[in-house]
Amino acid sequence: MANELALMTQPLPPFKLERYFAQYEFKAKYLLSASDCEALTLHELLAHADPDSLSRWNNLALGYTESQGLPALREEVALLYPGLSADDVLIVTPEEGIYIAMMTLLKPGDHVIAISPAYQSLYEIARSRGCDVTPWRVRADPQGWHVDLDELAHAINDRTRLLVINFPHNPTGYLPAHSEWQAVIDLAAQHNLVVFSDEMYRYLEYDPALRLPPACSMYERGISLSGLSKSFALPGLRIGWLAAQDRKLMERWLEYKDYTTICSSAPSEVLALIALRNREWLVERNLTIIKDNLAEAERFFGEYAAWFTWRRPTAGSVAFVQWKGLLPVEQLCREMLEWYGVMIVPATVFDMDGPYFRLGLGRRNFTEAIGQVRAYLRAAGAESHMLATGGL
Ligand SMILES: Cc1ncc(COP(=O)(O)O)c(C=O)c1O
Repeated sequence: MANELALMTQPLPPFKLERYFAQYEFKAKYLLSASDCEALTLHELLAHADPDSLSRWNNLALGYTESQGLPALREEVALLYPGLSADDVLIVTPEEGIYIAMMTLLKPGDHVIAISPAYQSLYEIARSRGCDVTPWRVRADPQGWHVDLDELAHAINDRTRLLVINFPHNPTGYLPAHSEWQAVIDLAAQHNLVVFSDEMYRYLEYDPALRLPPACSMYERGISLSGLSKSFALPGLRIGWLAAQDRKLMERWLEYKDYTTICSSAPSEVLALIALRNREWLVERNLTIIKDNLAEAERFFGEYAAWFTWRRPTAGSVAFVQWKGLLPVEQLCREMLEWYGVMIVPATVFDMDGPYFRLGLGRRNFTEAIGQVRAYLRAAGAESHMLATGGL
């Protein structure tokens, strides 16, 4: 039996989105699909340091750090999670947090339900570990996006161990209502499921009243993943965290982290502390950029309504736009990149078939990049020709 299960595990396939970015991120002039917000400079961040964190920065020894994470940073993180303390927080790189959690929670033969489309590691690690993964779809409707709770309930079986979700959702910007979120947690609790909740885009709700409580505070088997890469505009720090009430799980995570990074980077931890102590300012800065870009996007998609279906996101720094032309969306993205230097990620990179692409709303050159899209569409010539025949 053990051998049989070992055979079920498979090597991890390439991470499509990360490979796509690796190819073009530092070559393309405009990144119109980036999910992070305009990165802060070190200078800007340090200018906001309080005396305690500035002294930590100036006197920092570049040695190994505590494996669980700088205690002052964990205390700051714990403030985001009612009912949890610094001991319930593990500092990791966000992607590392997904890996550690999946590797410690799952065994071959487990059944996992994962939100779809999704950031690939949220389902791929489980799959390669020999788990059965059922997608729980975020579906398009004329107004926006939705999930179906009955579909989730029907997907649960006797072997279901884990529910993986990501709200605010990448790539659609979908956010469930409070009542729906509570119903998801209630359903998980009824079936004793662990909930892995990727909350990387939390705090980017356009209406703060819509912000959902974190999974780790709502539910004793809830795990919240978050970090500084998206909502806090500091992806280069490579700092995130896992938060959960289950201390036994924390012990296993710590043991596992010895095989990934052992401990986090000392300078990054102090910079992360400065960032979290200034989180209101940082979130406000990023939301201002996103909302300005949203207004620009709505103008553009209003103007080009015959070409695209625009579904307004509710939260986060991305939207998923439907292309209505007959030209395959992959070709549209390729031509935009080759001819106008605008990198746009098509849905196939999210293992999805439909004619969608992801639009990033967090960068300051958004208007300029959209201008290039406009120029492309105009240069493509007779718009009706492209729509009618699918050719340029
Ligand atoms: C939903 C989601 N989770 C996790 C991550 C990983 O974050 P990081 O790149 O900072 O490791 C990303 C990055 O794009 C993401 O979109």
